[in-house]
Amino acid sequence: MMSTATRERSPEPGEGPSIYDHRLVGYGYDLLARATFGLVGGVDRLREAALDAADLRPGMGVLELGCGTGGITRKLLGRGVRVTSVDRAEPMLRRARERAPGAVFEASEITRYAPRHRYDRVIFAFVLHELGPEARRRALEIARDALAPGGAVVILDHATPAEGLVPRAASAFVHAFEPPTVVVWARGSWDEELAAAGLTMGERRTLARGMAAVAVARRGPS
Ligand SMILES: C[S@@+](CC[C@H](N)C(=O)[O-])C[C@H]1O[C@@H](n2cnc3c(N)ncnc32)[C@H](O)[C@@H]1O
Repeated sequence: MMSTATRERSPEPGEGPSIYDHRLVGYGYDLLARATFGLVGGVDRLREAALDAADLRPGMGVLELGCGTGGITRKLLGRGVRVTSVDRAEPMLRRARERAPGAVFEASEITRYAPRHRYDRVIFAFVLHELGPEARRRALEIARDALAPGGAVVILDHATPAEGLVPRAASAFVHAFEPPTVVVWARGSWDEELAAAGLTMGERRTLARGMAAVAVARRGPS
């Protein structure tokens, strides 16, 4: 049996090929996202609820780290904010550019990304569970340093449902296909890791019948 430490070990960013490098992956990802959350309200409702928690106002500047195929990017633009979206996988970015042409896209590894501006919100949606603890901490520090005064980091990610046959079964199925890092991250409360990166957890809401959670964190006392 794998120990927890072994399960937490995932390839360091940029180490080895990624499933997201396949040229057709964008379309597969979108289908999978719909199927995953289809029985618990749907991925659109989940994304809208996360953006409600982000307390966005028109004209804000938002940095999205790990934008994937642009499902959230498009919704962000619909809320009247200015969006810069980053991802390292060109096939994912290609689909995101088609879907959300009003955003600025940058191809980069998150843990080596150097933001050129300060942002009112920095969003990670279903990204941090794919990183090992070291990379996650680095990504959170980059997000913290990219915040404008009064800004917030918003994290939407997998969680582990406490009850309900459907969400528990769906969650177990989905987690089986995710990198091993998902197990620890989806079970945790995130507070400790955020604190280690100099962020203070504010509100955390459970979404999609416990299959996901959204948290809003602000720069902690330095
Ligand atoms: C599960 S998808 C989520 C996409 C999108 N945020 C959403 O909610 O639909 C994860 C995305 O993060 C990107 N990603 C994962 N680790 C990354 C890293 N270290 N640097 C840059 N992008 C990364 C992947 O390429 C992929 O597009």
